[in-house]
Amino acid sequence: VNNAGAKPLAAAKPSFQGSEGPGKHILDSRQFTREWMEKSLFPLALDYQATSSRELRQVLSGKRLFFLFHQESTRTRLSFESAVTLLGGSVAGLDGQEIRLGPERLEDRIRIINGYGYDFIVIRYHEQGGALRAAAVSEAPVINAGDGDGQHPTQSLLDLYTLWREFGRIDGLRLAFVGDLRYERTTNSLAYALARFKGIKLYLVSPETLRINDAAREHLRENRVDVVETTDIREVAGSVDVIYMTKAQGSRMDYALRLEKGDGCYRITPDVLASLSPDSLILHPLPRGPELPADFDADPRVACFRQAQNGLYVRMALLSLLSS
Ligand code: CP
Repeated sequence: VNNAGAKPLAAAKPSFQGSEGPGKHILDSRQFTREWMEKSLFPLALDYQATSSRELRQVLSGKRLFFLFHQESTRTRLSFESAVTLLGGSVAGLDGQEIRLGPERLEDRIRIINGYGYDFIVIRYHEQGGALRAAAVSEAPVINAGDGDGQHPTQSLLDLYTLWREFGRIDGLRLAFVGDLRYERTTNSLAYALARFKGIKLYLVSPETLRINDAAREHLRENRVDVVETTDIREVAGSVDVIYMTKAQGSRMDYALRLEKGDGCYRITPDVLASLSPDSLILHPLPRGPELPADFDADPRVACFRQAQNGLYVRMALLSLLSS
């Protein structure tokens, strides 16, 4: 990522700068306005990206973040932990293994965490609606770090930030979401967030049995996003700026491929790379499976590691704004 031209503003106090913020809890990417992302979140994330860790203003000094992760995570959990500690705060939490050892009602756990004075609760839950349930009883802001096949709103923020950084714009981009779109929370959140922008063309590339859910499709239609649903990445690779790959979720994808087409339809191959324009990008929320072979990582268009790193800056900016 080229940081040239990004001016460090780490001494500045983060604020919503007059743009409408998403509210107390971060549950759903429909909470994010374009103005808030472009005028508050992204510039602050860029500021953090351009600032060395030694120079960071400790805006979260004394703040305490609790992670409650019912499912495993590398990127989301570590980037939130890094974000809060780099800005002077502290972190504690429970992971899935600890939660399974001591099952307890989600709402009870949230009340206990509230009682111990935490300032943020970051929750990953195995069922849709988990973060909403937590927010319903929480005094501290709850951040949805993924709820079943529902949403992953902070992933959509880092995805859009990546597009904004790499292309200098989001309006007018042509994207393909590829894979099991029925159960993929990252593409749900990104679809809702993209609907805030103009002139988006979205190809939804999935097996017939794993198409995006009706609510997301309807939202895209209502917001006049130009959507094409298809079943073969090779048909669209030459027409897009961005391929957003998703992890083939094991048995569901295997079953769909047995019923429908071969897995060349949902995989990056040398032919797909050859069709893609030189200034296009391949994103993936990670972790990946065989759909994005590591053999292609040296291709600069494979941006998934830059994307994951952007998660740190975006979450630093988000926590700063939520606490300002
Ligand atoms: N992208 C993402 O959510 O990754 P983790 O599952 O590692 O948090």
